Amino acid sequence: MEVVILAAGQGKRMRSALPKVLQPLAGKPLLAHVLASARVLDPRRICVVYGHGGEAVRARFDASDIVWVAQSAQLGTGHAVRQALPYLGGERTLVLYGDVPLIGAPTLARLLAAAGRERLALLTVALDDPSGYGRILRDADGRVTRIVEEKDATKAERHVREINTGILVAPTEKLRDWLARVGNANAQGEYYLTDIVGLAVEAGVEVVTAAPDDVDETLGVNSKAQLAAIERVYQARAARRLLDDGVTLADPARFDVRGELLCGRDVEIDVDCVFEGQVELGDGVVVGAHCVLRDVRIGAGSRVAPFSHLDGATVGEACVVGPYARIRPGTVLGNGVHVGNFVEVKNSKVAEGSKANHLAYVGDADVGARVNIGAGVITCNYDGANKYRTEIGDDVFIGSDTQLVAPVRVGQGATLGAGTTLTRDAPPGQLTVSRARQQSYAAWTRPEKKV
Ligand code: UD1
Ligand code: CA
Repeated sequence: MEVVILAAGQGKRMRSALPKVLQPLAGKPLLAHVLASARVLDPRRICVVYGHGGEAVRARFDASDIVWVAQSAQLGTGHAVRQALPYLGGERTLVLYGDVPLIGAPTLARLLAAAGRERLALLTVALDDPSGYGRILRDADGRVTRIVEEKDATKAERHVREINTGILVAPTEKLRDWLARVGNANAQGEYYLTDIVGLAVEAGVEVVTAAPDDVDETLGVNSKAQLAAIERVYQARAARRLLDDGVTLADPARFDVRGELLCGRDVEIDVDCVFEGQVELGDGVVVGAHCVLRDVRIGAGSRVAPFSHLDGATVGEACVVGPYARIRPGTVLGNGVHVGNFVEVKNSKVAEGSKANHLAYVGDADVGARVNIGAGVITCNYDGANKYRTEIGDDVFIGSDTQLVAPVRVGQGATLGAGTTLTRDAPPGQLTVSRARQQSYAAWTRPEKKV
């Protein structure tokens, strides 16, 4: 079996510089979703027929199993498939659409089963409002006779509710034959792929139909409104799968996953969270409202409080992150670490039980266990040209508003007095403070305004 994906349409109604099949659904290009479903079926080859914005599409999908086929002028679906014929040598061909992203592999597997080796199989659905689609015409015995496009249909034919989704499976050699005979004498002056149905019937080839598992699988994207609607369908399904797995979602309609989200038992997710890339939440993890988590792993029993942003990080067990925390790539938090409001941590290791609860920047640092980082503490990791690391030993106490000018080391058990600007290493176990001595002037009086 080989796959042809039609992706040459311009997508004018998207009103976008980005080619239609690169428009994102759940964080991935539309075409990526179609490719993923196609690959589940393990085809011998996948031909993508591209046109508008072709180079950008090719550059985005640099995969060895794809054969790129250019269609310089969009003369119709039949013309599009014909461009791929020289690259097809298998027994049968599955035609998919780059802008129909929710199509599922189980549905396609059933269509392939219905087709067998020599039948022409069409994926069809019955719609209350079939307008715009090609209609499936059947004879008195219910056998498919042909497909008529809406623009070519008579009034009676337009009443038919069974429509062509466009997705089909055909025996490849016969497809070659039929496409050579398809003309463009129709209302749109296009070479219709759908005309092969009449030719198949003429040749005595059986035409069968199959229905998708879910009508939503055949939804196409022609406008931003349709893209937004399909996004919600996708997210509703993802939410449903998580609920079925026992995850608590405060509101399944206010939840977005743009990648893969793996959850342990008794995970709770509040409203308006976004999960991107690969995210793993351990048992009992609670994610507060309005959090964005991208490529993170969070250990069991940890809590991410509202309005936190985590990216490229590993969080241990029983941690508390946020509210309003920002955890950036390369961060590893040990068990029981607390990172509070307006604290930014970047490319740092923070060991078990350490706390930075308010207004701090910890960047390029190795922080030991049970360290207390006071409010307003900043690692000065950048001298304007290079970045340096800060090393902080176990059981260190860093007073508020301290600046650690890297590279610098704070020995185990050291205390840094509030307001210290640390430019040299602080010895272990001692108090280090750099601060002008406090003085009071008993004889001083406030100046008075001159008259
Ligand atoms: C097509 C079907 C119609 C079906 C409908 C489902 C034909 C003649 N008609 O209609 O029966 O109900 O899809 O949505 O097949 N494309 C190319 N090159 C072209 C033309 C199209 O790659 O020259 C691609 C488009 O990018 C799109 C797909 O083929 O992904 C369908 O094209 P579109 O113009 O939307 O087909 P319709 O005329 O709507
Ligand atoms: Ca269409």
